[in-house]
Amino acid sequence: MSERDNRPVLLEAQGVCKYFGGLKAVENVDMQIREGDIFGIIGPNGAGKTTFFNMCTGMYPVTKGKILFEGNDLTKLNTEEIAEKYIARTFQNIQLFRFMTVLENVKIGCHVQTHSNLFDAILHSRRYHDDEAYTTKKSLDILKRIGLYEYRDVKASNLSYGMQRKVEIARAMALDHKILLLDEPAAGMNPQETQSLMEFIKQLNADGLTIAVIEHDMKFIMNSCNRILVLNFGQKIFEGTPQEVKENREVQEAYFGKGMVAGEALK
Ligand SMILES: Nc1ncnc2c1ncn2[C@@H]1O[C@H](COP(=O)(O)OP(=O)(O)O)[C@@H](O)[C@H]1O
Ligand SMILES: [Mg+2]
Repeated sequence: MSERDNRPVLLEAQGVCKYFGGLKAVENVDMQIREGDIFGIIGPNGAGKTTFFNMCTGMYPVTKGKILFEGNDLTKLNTEEIAEKYIARTFQNIQLFRFMTVLENVKIGCHVQTHSNLFDAILHSRRYHDDEAYTTKKSLDILKRIGLYEYRDVKASNLSYGMQRKVEIARAMALDHKILLLDEPAAGMNPQETQSLMEFIKQLNADGLTIAVIEHDMKFIMNSCNRILVLNFGQKIFEGTPQEVKENREVQEAYFGKGMVAGEALK
């Protein structure tokens, strides 16, 4: 038994399927993400990775199967309930409010969990003021931690791609959940930005956040994940440590066959 087997399961998929008409985008996938993991999900384009995340976060209902968070069945919850209570995520295509500032974008993450409603905001009630002060402070603290404090009043659209990614992560962190799902966070980044993102994700993990990450950058995956799930045509073809993934023949053929050898990423 490995050290990992002793840690509690946070996010679990049991026989999860997603069919779009006749297309089996995700077929019978089982997964257990344990507390403390940096859990990688890899596979060729169209393998079903994003669709799988979309089911974990309630954006798509499952066709079959179950998704559990600490034993709670998420399958019946909608995406707002899951975002409020259980899972934070970022998107393959960055989703920020481009004409809002960095600080305003992060505050939106906090507002998911404060209890001011529209009337409180319009009437500027006491509750609204308390929530506002709290979310501002909390958002600024996160921006300090993530190294974006100086950019708090800059419009999101004026930031580099790498920084926009970080703002999206900051907004997800504002939810204070135990787990963060990242969909291709390094896509479009240059090697320096990717390296700095990798170090940042490792630091978040060392500070106690469990992370699931879809990524094409093999160097990123092999050097940051402790556990990797490989999807191909919607099916799980392998799961193991980076070393096991590197050595598995089926993975090599399905995924690395076309010129890219996993071992190269480890050098
Ligand atoms: N909303 C949708 N409607 C129909 N087909 C979809 C939808 N979303 C994804 N698909 C299809 O499901 C398959 C898996 O897509 P996706 O999960 O985006 O793959 P990946 O993220 O691994 O590249 C693809 O064939 C894609 O075209
Ligand atoms: Mg995708």
